[in-house]
Amino acid sequence: MKLLFLGDLVGRTGRTAVIDQLPGLIEDHQLDFVVVNGENSASGFGITEQILQDVLDAGADVVTLGNHSWDQRDTLVYIERQDRLLRPVNYPKGTPGRGAHLFTARNGAQVMVANVMGRVYMDPLDDPFAVIDRVVNDCPLGQVADAIIIDMHAEATSEKQAMGHFLDGRVSLVVGTHTHVPTADHQILTHGTAYMSDAGMCGDYDSVLGMEKDEPVNRFLRKIPGGRFTPAGGDATICGVAVETDDRTGLALKVAPVRIGGRLDPVLPPFWS
Ligand SMILES: [Fe+2]
Ligand SMILES: [Fe+2]
Repeated sequence: MKLLFLGDLVGRTGRTAVIDQLPGLIEDHQLDFVVVNGENSASGFGITEQILQDVLDAGADVVTLGNHSWDQRDTLVYIERQDRLLRPVNYPKGTPGRGAHLFTARNGAQVMVANVMGRVYMDPLDDPFAVIDRVVNDCPLGQVADAIIIDMHAEATSEKQAMGHFLDGRVSLVVGTHTHVPTADHQILTHGTAYMSDAGMCGDYDSVLGMEKDEPVNRFLRKIPGGRFTPAGGDATICGVAVETDDRTGLALKVAPVRIGGRLDPVLPPFWS
């Protein structure tokens, strides 16, 4: 299977780039399943139901969230009827929505996706390792699921790498989100799981994490909040990771970064036809 994961969409420029270009990417490269992190797609803060629908209509199979899940208050309500929107699975019991689910891909394959949040420099949620262990044990790769994608939404690369090795051989891909900066450490781990510490954002890289740079710079200089954070509006770079999996085992055969448009040098996976 050919999987694509795209990092956090930031603001109008990030979501527009993805909504405009995803249908062509799916068609041109015969992608079987696409996951997009949407936690910053509504002016940098959360996601509206309309934006979710637009991203799904563009061809995303699943949209994941993170620490910005509830920035748009409506999300607490509409997530109950939107089964393709996942929030972190290790939120407290009783949190609306769900954090892991088995989906049917365009080719009929079963793909499990989970969104989980780290705890280092983040909110102290339930233990991400214990929770994801249960989720993966309930849905074994190569038996119930043809592919498994884990979006590890976390600040610390150590915690993300630990999650990658913890799940090595049991899932197709562990990819980090949240830092909005793509890392160059994509690899297939010892037991066959594709890994990348951070997918990067889909947004304007002439910015601080996708936000218009003046206010973040001022806050570092003056330590007095002056204005609001607003997403930078220049051309977005679409950033993510592509994986090709073994149809029999669900493990990764190939992994490569994806970078399209905007200021970053373009990178397309060599195995994309
Ligand atoms: Fe984010
Ligand atoms: Fe985040």
